[in-house]
Amino acid sequence: MCGIIGYTGQMDALKVLLNGLEQLEYRGYDSAGVALLSSGHDRLLIKKAGPVATLKESCAELKVESHCGIGHTRWATHGGVNDINAHPHIAGRVTLIHNGIIENYHNLIERFGFQDSLVSETDTEVAARLFDYYYEGNPREAIKKTIRELTGAYAFCIMFEDIPDEIFCIRNVSPMVAAHIEGSSFVASDVTALIPYTNRYFVIPEYELVILKKDDIILEDLDGNRKEPEFLEVSWNLEAAKKNGFPHYMLKEIHEQPEALRNTILPRLENGLPDFTEDRIPDSLFSGCDKIAIVACGTAMYAGMVGKALMEPLLKIPVSVNIASEYRYESPLVDERTLVIVISQSGETIDTLAALRLSKELGAKVLSIVNVKGSTIARESDHVFYTHAGPEIAVASTKAYMVQLASLYLIACRMAMARGVYQETDAAAFVSRLLEAVPAVEKILAKKDRIKTAASILAKAQDAFFVGRGLDYAFSLEGSLKLKEISYIHAEAYAAGELKHGTIALIEKQTPVIAVATQDHIYGKTLSNVREVRARGAFVILITKKDAEVPEDICDIHFAIPASSDQFTVFPVAVILQLLAYYTSDMKGLNVDKPRNLAKSVTVE
Ligand code: M6R
Repeated sequence: MCGIIGYTGQMDALKVLLNGLEQLEYRGYDSAGVALLSSGHDRLLIKKAGPVATLKESCAELKVESHCGIGHTRWATHGGVNDINAHPHIAGRVTLIHNGIIENYHNLIERFGFQDSLVSETDTEVAARLFDYYYEGNPREAIKKTIRELTGAYAFCIMFEDIPDEIFCIRNVSPMVAAHIEGSSFVASDVTALIPYTNRYFVIPEYELVILKKDDIILEDLDGNRKEPEFLEVSWNLEAAKKNGFPHYMLKEIHEQPEALRNTILPRLENGLPDFTEDRIPDSLFSGCDKIAIVACGTAMYAGMVGKALMEPLLKIPVSVNIASEYRYESPLVDERTLVIVISQSGETIDTLAALRLSKELGAKVLSIVNVKGSTIARESDHVFYTHAGPEIAVASTKAYMVQLASLYLIACRMAMARGVYQETDAAAFVSRLLEAVPAVEKILAKKDRIKTAASILAKAQDAFFVGRGLDYAFSLEGSLKLKEISYIHAEAYAAGELKHGTIALIEKQTPVIAVATQDHIYGKTLSNVREVRARGAFVILITKKDAEVPEDICDIHFAIPASSDQFTVFPVAVILQLLAYYTSDMKGLNVDKPRNLAKSVTVE
């Protein structure tokens, strides 16, 4: 939800900002802008509706030598998509960019009488006015007084007209990281924008002030006491955040899944058994609970659905899957005997973060499965299980889902050991079947072109239905989300047996139905449901195991995954569903990596 970057130092600030905005564009792409303010030059502001490329074109002719500035790429919340609402915003001597939402902005407009001075419809401009209102030459005081008035989430980078070459940064909830190398200081929404310059950064603590100067970076509390930043290191390099010859990030990330699986699973195996010593996750966490509550949003929540379908029958304790944005308003039945598993790729999703905080207030222990190191969710959890997917840039999550699943499988196995459900031999057999997921995924990738034919049918459709039973239903939910978010085809997933209770009325001649039937014990039942839609003219794309008996007339297109035991079929099935969505979107000529109305990291409620 908006990408922000700030730079001061010896380099060409405009270049650094534009390059950074390209890296951050996945966080929002409604508009983009930059403001420059270095000594010897007037303040300069350029902002444009549209992607960063449009801003770049507008800056192409600019002959300016500036060494300090801020840049923003917007995901619109308050106010439409146009040049005026784009950031940065200027109010008097203040120029700023913002990621987040100021919830009490209406009230502030009235209290401070800003009605006549505002030029945009944004909550951000109100904050800019307030900073300027309180600014009497002391930026620290102005910031302190302003944030006392604000309700909501924010990451601000602020420049004061009479203090060129310096940027002041403060945040609450919304993410922001900073870094310093000789002669340059940087701030950004996330570390991807900083990677070309350094892999050493720190997360700006909430309600602490960071001041970027050319020769120094200062972290201090709001009383002006200097503090030592806690530096982190990124383990991946710039190449990992590039497309590396693939036409889209999504396709690249789909191909990175075997490696991501290996990176997540292998370091956690000791003599073929899951071992979380390095993660500092004790067995008492698993043995001391009566139930599990999984909380997440979107794809991460659908990974949780697979986790539930796996864990409940294995561990024989209740497992609930909760949509994070609902959880906090429905008085969840969570207490100190509940293990809450929070899942988030970014570690910054605000609904998930709020659910985490509520779970802790209710006394539960929180284990989070997170991809981004040092993110807010990771830092606030009791225990973190990091996935090692590397940076995921495409808005549609693929490799992060894959490793979230692998993590849930490892956790389920270790938990079964800790609770005496599994002996070591059972656990070793489980792990070796999990490892077979890696070649299974590779086999699907090697034959990916076959999926294009099915995609060409889907590309012409208005609606599509995904059906499956048990675990297959859990996979289908994610398959339908993937298709709808990048191809804009209305897609829904149903438990296959539920169709006849209403949904089958929607099936017409040639309506695509993607049937996932990889669970042996309910295979026959699922096939009966497939026959029901086929009898009504559906175009059936069927996914089964390689060794399944598939009646000749039951489908139009058949995909077979390598033979594996029922619990583990999700891994190759997920790749088929991801590729189906990818090729459909691409064939429709859509922006696969940046689908309309979406942003990668959802840091607003
Ligand atoms: O970063 P998170 O895993 O917390 O994000 C959760 C969802 O916003 C995310 O999975 C979203 O649904 C993706 N667009 C799915 O592809």
